[in-house]
Amino acid sequence: MSTHDFWQAVLYLHLLAMAFFVGGQLVFGLAVVPVLRGDPDPERTRMRAVARRFGYGSLAALGVLLLTGWAMASHYGLWDSSTLQWKLALVALVIALTLVHLRRPKLHALQAAILLASLVIVWLGLDLASGF
Ligand code: HEM
Repeated sequence: MSTHDFWQAVLYLHLLAMAFFVGGQLVFGLAVVPVLRGDPDPERTRMRAVARRFGYGSLAALGVLLLTGWAMASHYGLWDSSTLQWKLALVALVIALTLVHLRRPKLHALQAAILLASLVIVWLGLDLASGF
């Protein structure tokens, strides 16, 4: 495997994890929650089971994003980039909001804020890759 192929594979993993992280939030909010909200089960067993699996998947995706992002930032010498620093600040915000969300799962404004911040992170990621 050439060096070029290696870094392409790292970026590929970053983007795959990004697709899960952001796509998962969209599908969960647009399809799973509206459908399972009508569930007659007062315990919401199915909704909670789906939410738990989604949560573990998102945690794994975030781990891959941090690892591959860290590697690329070092390889491309981007740690001084203010775009990267804004991106990292938003990643920290998303992690903090997610921790609050675990304690207050019914606060829908939190989910909206996490999605919005994630979408801005994607925008900043595009800026980073195109060198702006
Ligand atoms: C929720 C977390 C994250 C999301 C959704 C995300 C998303 C993205 C996206 C969409 C790109 C554009 C790739 C392209 O157009 O080729 C990108 C690139 C990049 N990301 Fe992230 N990212 C996340 C976390 C991180 C973290 C934690 C770091 C650093 C520690 C990081 C460092 C980078 C770097 C250095 C690039 C540019 C790669 C290049 O120059 O080709 N990312 N990211």
